[in-house]
Amino acid sequence: MIRPNSWLGLLGGGQLGKMFAMKAQQMGYRVMIVDPSEHAPAKGVANLWLCAEYSDFSALEKMVERCDAVTTEFENVPAQSLGFLEKKLIVSPGKSAVEIIQDRILEKEFLRNNGFRTVPYTVLKNVQDLSRKEILEDFFPGFLKVSKFGYDGKGQVKVRDKLNLEASFKHLGQTPCVLEEALELHKEISVVIGRSADGQVVCYPVVENKHENGILDISVFPADISQKIKNQATEITIDLAEKLQYVGVLCVEFFLHRERGLFVNEVAPRPHNSGHYTMDAFVVCQFEQQVRALCRLPLGPVRPTSPSAVMVNILGDLWQSGDPDWSKLLNSPATHFHLYGKEHARPGRKMGHYTVVAETAIDAKKIAMEIKQTIISG
Ligand SMILES: Nc1ncnc2c1ncn2[C@@H]1O[C@H](COP(=O)(O)OP(=O)(O)O)[C@@H](O)[C@H]1O
Ligand SMILES: [Mg+2]
Repeated sequence: MIRPNSWLGLLGGGQLGKMFAMKAQQMGYRVMIVDPSEHAPAKGVANLWLCAEYSDFSALEKMVERCDAVTTEFENVPAQSLGFLEKKLIVSPGKSAVEIIQDRILEKEFLRNNGFRTVPYTVLKNVQDLSRKEILEDFFPGFLKVSKFGYDGKGQVKVRDKLNLEASFKHLGQTPCVLEEALELHKEISVVIGRSADGQVVCYPVVENKHENGILDISVFPADISQKIKNQATEITIDLAEKLQYVGVLCVEFFLHRERGLFVNEVAPRPHNSGHYTMDAFVVCQFEQQVRALCRLPLGPVRPTSPSAVMVNILGDLWQSGDPDWSKLLNSPATHFHLYGKEHARPGRKMGHYTVVAETAIDAKKIAMEIKQTIISG
């Protein structure tokens, strides 16, 4: 067990890193953060901030000297860096899992090879691949997604038919991609779990997610789906974490098709935006589970403090004509407000979120939407 007052290393200083650091500090740990940006949100809360690339081995060496364990807040840390750290101290999640998840091609191959259902897809590595015969028949309309560094709907385009494929591939930079069938989504859901080094697993309930332009807009707990689908999604998530020998917090995003059932969309090797509601609606939140798993403490009980919650993301779009009006939000007795402290608001950029807790998901949603209206018009 890693004792309080020890130093924990964190690769990445975005909002997920900030929330991890604040939780770790609440539990008596000190946090050293490496991030290449001078303006990352977690900078203000780091006990020690090192502005460096994730591939800067002298920075990683400093982390090794000071810290007992290292975690990441985003999946694009070079696998080599995790491998370097892993030789010297505890790293959760480890290189082998992150390396798969950070590359859509490897991720989908892993899922397929282990019997998890993905949306039908094919891999396109170069322009020659675009003329392969099978592409004429399947996958349209489809989504073309870059294999690496995509997030929040960036690095992907919807492709209507074969005629648009080449232009889309070029638009994405002629980099290796997956082309997958566009599903008619009945719902999108996700499951966040924690898994400890000795294989203990805790699961948060299934939540329902709505996206706008590929970016998560709201998450609703509990999801309005059958118990059977909930069980299936939860079992798949646990099974997947076991097959990855995963230690830490992990989220699986699913697509639900009315007739064809569940498909695994993607995996996140870290706490997830759709799990933010756990900060305000559970005794132990996803970030505390991340600290516990990393420090080899027992994972925390998954006990809700509210029967329902709705989390709404606050995007940079709201700043277009000045500062948003938070008055209604701040006056709502059921609402928890989180701003990440980012310096610049850009359209589509996640600036914060709020969570409304209520007796039912319908009530929580109603309050959340009323508040949203007032922020927009502010
Ligand atoms: N094959 C698909 N069929 C239907 N909708 C999709 C498909 N792929 C992506 N989407 C939509 O775009 C969103 C973002 O895609 P995703 O693959 O999760 O990328 P990101 O890494 O940006 O989250 C999804 O949550 C979903 O709303
Ligand atoms: Mg996604």
